[in-house]
Amino acid sequence: MVDDRTFETIIEPFRIKTVEPLRRTTRARRETALREAGWNLFSVHGEDVLIDLLTDSGTGALSARQWGMMMQGDETYAGADSFYRFEAAVKDITGLDHVIPTHQGRAAERILFRAMVNPGDLVINNTHFDTTRANVEYREGVAMDIPCREAADQDDHPFKGNIDLEQLEEVLSGNPGRVPLVMITVTNNSGGGQPVSLGNIRAARAICDRHKVPLFLDACRFAENAWFIHLREEGQQDRTPIEIAREMFSLVDGATMSAKKDGMANIGGFLALNDMDVVVQCRNMLILTEGFPTYGGLAGYDLEAVAVGLYEALEEDYLRYRIRSIAYLADRLAEVGIPMITPPGGHALYLDAGKMLPHIPWNEYPGWSLAVAIYLEGGIRGCEIGSVMFGQQPDGTEQAAPRELVRLAFPRRVYTQSHVDYVAEVLLRVYANRDQLRGMKMLDSPPVLRHFTARLEPI
Ligand code: F0G
Repeated sequence: MVDDRTFETIIEPFRIKTVEPLRRTTRARRETALREAGWNLFSVHGEDVLIDLLTDSGTGALSARQWGMMMQGDETYAGADSFYRFEAAVKDITGLDHVIPTHQGRAAERILFRAMVNPGDLVINNTHFDTTRANVEYREGVAMDIPCREAADQDDHPFKGNIDLEQLEEVLSGNPGRVPLVMITVTNNSGGGQPVSLGNIRAARAICDRHKVPLFLDACRFAENAWFIHLREEGQQDRTPIEIAREMFSLVDGATMSAKKDGMANIGGFLALNDMDVVVQCRNMLILTEGFPTYGGLAGYDLEAVAVGLYEALEEDYLRYRIRSIAYLADRLAEVGIPMITPPGGHALYLDAGKMLPHIPWNEYPGWSLAVAIYLEGGIRGCEIGSVMFGQQPDGTEQAAPRELVRLAFPRRVYTQSHVDYVAEVLLRVYANRDQLRGMKMLDSPPVLRHFTARLEPI
């Protein structure tokens, strides 16, 4: 690759071949849309959203190379060529022995936990993502988060996604036989999209080895994590993202993956692992609910998109642009002092609604209120990660989430710098009028994962 690094401008490393018009709406229309949606942005129709930052999951743009291979998708039921290309890519990057395709990440979690987690078991993670937590609890296990202490700091720290090693040692020592697996989520989505260092994974591996407990990665954003390691971890600057990714996977016994993130696909995922006993159980479960082990609920062309996408996610030019576009937005917001988690995450920026709206108590959901205000102002859809998403306890009571955040997650290869400039302008306006924002009242709170379907109204 010819790479001229003497220029400072980081450009989008693609040109645009197919375009899709953005859809503009009026403020009045957005108000109606919200009312009809029970003030839940998950229920707003896509046609009413101008810039959609609800998630980076399955929302990316495919490359010409992916489309090309998708035309060669082999739809053979058992033993399709597409599966073997998919399997080869996953094995090449992860080095793990067995690859089970699934339709997305949570299917991999469900199948894995069905095989490994029993009632009363304790699953430890730096921070469980909401589906991961729900899948542990579905098995009547306890999902325990032990993020590193720096995660809660105001100060910048290069690896706020790390798992707390002291607590890991303590919990494993105090609960012999009760922990079927430890997971590390890279990057730590619920903790601000923050990376985990190689050193941290290595140390966790050593602790798990001493206690003979398997270690897994929740690998959704493994490529972004590898890029942060390349940028920030001592001695890693001369290594490529793929070399770093391979080392991350070499330190674990298995991984769950949503290919809707760093698989650069619109759907897909996998479970990859070494333990043959667990593999056999997982494959049997897969056949019951997902499909035959060589397609796992995916079409042949989906498998092709992932096989190509996993490598594209690891390209340096792409990662440089990807991480920079979020940092660029953070820089614009920092100029006026908008509170957010710093340093910015890999796939998303996390606004700190708790700090921005101190006049709204946690049980009136400041994050939710801010997300609604951003949508009303500029048609931008983000996602609350606060007491609506995490406040609900398994026993039905409510408790304040650790933080009241709004996540603005960027789809891959979809938006350009001018889109980001527009997002900054809208956020600056909302921030200027922050005193006017009101809290929300919960009208209907479903028993699990309530943020997807809850209905609320402004107070
Ligand atoms: N683990 C992490 C860390 C995730 O961020 C997600 C999904 C999953 C597992 C589940 O994967 O959606 O393919 O079933 N996160 C999306 C998000 C939904 O918006 O952050 P999935």
